[in-house]
Amino acid sequence: MLQLPKVIGHRGAAAYALENTLDSFREARRRGATWVETDVKLTADGVPILMHDASLKRTMGVDRLVSRTKAADLPKEVPTFEAAIECFRELGLGCNVEIKPCEGREAETARVAVETLRRCWPAALPAPLLSSFKDVSLLAAHEAAPDFDRAILIDALDDDWRRRAEAVGAVGVNTNGKKLTAPRAVEVLRADYLLGVYTIDDGDVARALTGMGVHCVITDAPDLIIAALI
Ligand code: G3P
Ligand code: MG
Repeated sequence: MLQLPKVIGHRGAAAYALENTLDSFREARRRGATWVETDVKLTADGVPILMHDASLKRTMGVDRLVSRTKAADLPKEVPTFEAAIECFRELGLGCNVEIKPCEGREAETARVAVETLRRCWPAALPAPLLSSFKDVSLLAAHEAAPDFDRAILIDALDDDWRRRAEAVGAVGVNTNGKKLTAPRAVEVLRADYLLGVYTIDDGDVARALTGMGVHCVITDAPDLIIAALI
């Protein structure tokens, strides 16, 4: 069964470095993370790259959509997924790969992401965990690479979470830790799913959540959360 670390660096170590960049992954490693989370989407020419938003504006200051930009025209700080995997190899980092498709490219993004993982993921690293808010992406990932573990992403757990998880063959549920209630945590744990929470940067909150049985805390500040959970 997939073993997740207690702490995963969100977009690398987004509290300290520009999110979803190689610098952010290095910073996460320096601050003690053994895994990072990152967001994968496709460029106009179908290259998988790391970017959270549909637009480059917030993080890169360029007012353009990723879906309309070719890989060669991206700012140099935006890594390709392949370059990121090479960086994980160098640093010995595991990864929660969030499939974050641009609208209309849900299945394609998943297929390209798993094809890249199949080709490039180092055997020496722990197998990655795939996650997505989009069930179409998780289903496409399941079909293309059933051996990669998957987690559903859900902002607030509702009565439908288990149907979603079963439909995509998920082993995990990653949810907004600020909205997680103890009864919902019990429900997930009793059903034998791995339970992850995002994005928790407060040590007391992280301790309360792991006290509820949460397996894994995704955080912008891995050093603080690691220190809080020792
Ligand atoms: O994968 C956990 C978390 O990253 C999901 O939300 O919006 O930060 O990608 P977001
Ligand atoms: Mg994410």
